[in-house]
Amino acid sequence: MSTPQDRNFGFDTGTVIITGAASGIGRETALEAKRQGLGVIAWDINAAGLEGLAGELRATGRVQLVETAVVDISDIDAVAAAMRAVTAAHKPRYLVNNAGPPSGADLPFERAIANSLVATREITRLWLDGEPSDPVAVNVASVAGNLLGLGEWYSAAKAGIVGYTRSLAVSRPGGLRVNAVAPGLIDTARLQATLETERGKDIVKRNPLGRAGRPEEVAAAIMFLLSPSASLINGTLLVCDGGSSLVL
Ligand SMILES: NC(=O)c1ccc[n+]([C@@H]2O[C@H](COP(=O)([O-])OP(=O)(O)OC[C@H]3O[C@@H](n4cnc5c(N)ncnc54)[C@H](O)[C@@H]3O)[C@@H](O)[C@H]2O)c1
Repeated sequence: MSTPQDRNFGFDTGTVIITGAASGIGRETALEAKRQGLGVIAWDINAAGLEGLAGELRATGRVQLVETAVVDISDIDAVAAAMRAVTAAHKPRYLVNNAGPPSGADLPFERAIANSLVATREITRLWLDGEPSDPVAVNVASVAGNLLGLGEWYSAAKAGIVGYTRSLAVSRPGGLRVNAVAPGLIDTARLQATLETERGKDIVKRNPLGRAGRPEEVAAAIMFLLSPSASLINGTLLVCDGGSSLVL
């Protein structure tokens, strides 16, 4: 079995912006991107988490770009300023829209949609405005809203992200490839409390793999979709849930 260390998706060079990179799926995506030879621009609201990530990325000893910045994706002015800065310096070819509020967040519907779906669209628009060459993006959706009904705003936002991904995928012939992933229950910080409930344990038990997903497994799917290995894949939703949405 291949290990993360010897996995090679065939990237040449390039730089990826990853939102929500200080923890969980975003963090593992940043680590995998570095292993795959990409420069990494990591955004998050968690400054300490970003610092830890940057230390780990730089410790690999390879010389690609590592830049971190505290950027709240729900603050579009902050996103625009950060995007202007990275675009002027690097024109990142790759984008991973991963950040978003936790499914259990008690937010008014409109604000939750703004902080997830609208933010994803705005970040993507600003990134494309910088005219990256051969741009490729991956949006992190969920089985919620796409295969399961799980939370009003969360389902609406994640289904919206997939609809947006499909629309974007056909919007620039020859000029953009974009896909989405739909994680199931993944063992990350935000899911710790859920995993300890009876309901959480039951969901894990019913997963055909008999366990929750790991963030590095979703990261591998994200990096595959970004990579030249997925050159014919555009506008798709890749479900990463161990088959749990196939069982009642
Ligand atoms: N964990 C799961 O089971 C699961 C399932 C389906 C989808 N997802 C999706 O995966 C993505 C990542 O989730 P995770 O489980 O890795 O969570 P996580 O909590 O481990 O990490 C999320 C990161 O995003 C950051 N973040 C939150 N709000 C932000 C904002 N406004 N701006 C910038 N950064 C922000 C957090 O500080 C954190 O570092 C989310 O979009 C989530 O909806 C997760």
